[in-house]
Amino acid sequence: MTAQKHAIGIDIGGTGIKGALVDLATGELVSDRVKLPTPDGGEPDDIVETTKEIVEKLAVEDADTPVGICFPAIVSHGVTLSAANISKKWIGLAAEALFEHALARDIHFVNDADAAGYAETRFGAAKGRDGLVIMTTLGTGIGSALIYDGVLIPNAELGHIEIEGHDAESRAAYSAKEREDLSWEKWAKRLQKYYSAVEFLFTPDLFIVGGGVSKNYDQFLPLLNLRTPIVPAVHRNNAGILGAAALAVRGERRDAGERGRSAEVGTPDDAQPAPAS
Ligand code: BGC
Repeated sequence: MTAQKHAIGIDIGGTGIKGALVDLATGELVSDRVKLPTPDGGEPDDIVETTKEIVEKLAVEDADTPVGICFPAIVSHGVTLSAANISKKWIGLAAEALFEHALARDIHFVNDADAAGYAETRFGAAKGRDGLVIMTTLGTGIGSALIYDGVLIPNAELGHIEIEGHDAESRAAYSAKEREDLSWEKWAKRLQKYYSAVEFLFTPDLFIVGGGVSKNYDQFLPLLNLRTPIVPAVHRNNAGILGAAALAVRGERRDAGERGRSAEVGTPDDAQPAPAS
């Protein structure tokens, strides 16, 4: 089998859907980045249509080029099991099969923070790091990825741990800072509680902070007092694209700990929807 050189990565978010062709050896984008707004309501069929448009615009001739798609929900065996900040129609949906049918090609569907964490492991702040790395993305919600000795342990939903009776992301996500117009200092106090709780539960070796706000890391990371080193992500806007593309390749998935199970094990009928929060 020849090693795959390129893969398409698509990152589906609350406001935009973006995609590009990625060089899997270097983590560089080898096409323009195509971005379209997420359709209002974020319903599955509309998102599938927009994704199809993006794949067409990328005009990748080779139909065998792997396609990875990341999405802000728990994704197990190709089925989306939660919907914290998206349409509830995604809960229990066989999303991977739906996209495969619409795009008429194999795709691999993963959680957005897992994709971002894997991108940092392959091409960014966690490259070559052993031990436990916890990636967190601070955006509308808080996404998280656990990576141990370079192996991704998928679907850690650490944005939803309960802190002082609240779903953590409702207080500490970047959207909470914006919604409540919090100063960096006030927001950092909430982040302190959040990262201290995660640090206590997991004793990681490294925290990586991603999401758009991480470009302003110097405003809030120095205010945090943790045992664990905490660094900004290297890939902010493109992390989802890079990780989804890398995880689309079967060999990479095996390395990442998924052992290629998505296609052959589990059906939508097995899936137990997780409570939406
Ligand atoms: C979702 C996660 C997602 C994160 C970032 C959370 O609300 O539960 O699955 O990774 O937001 O988008």
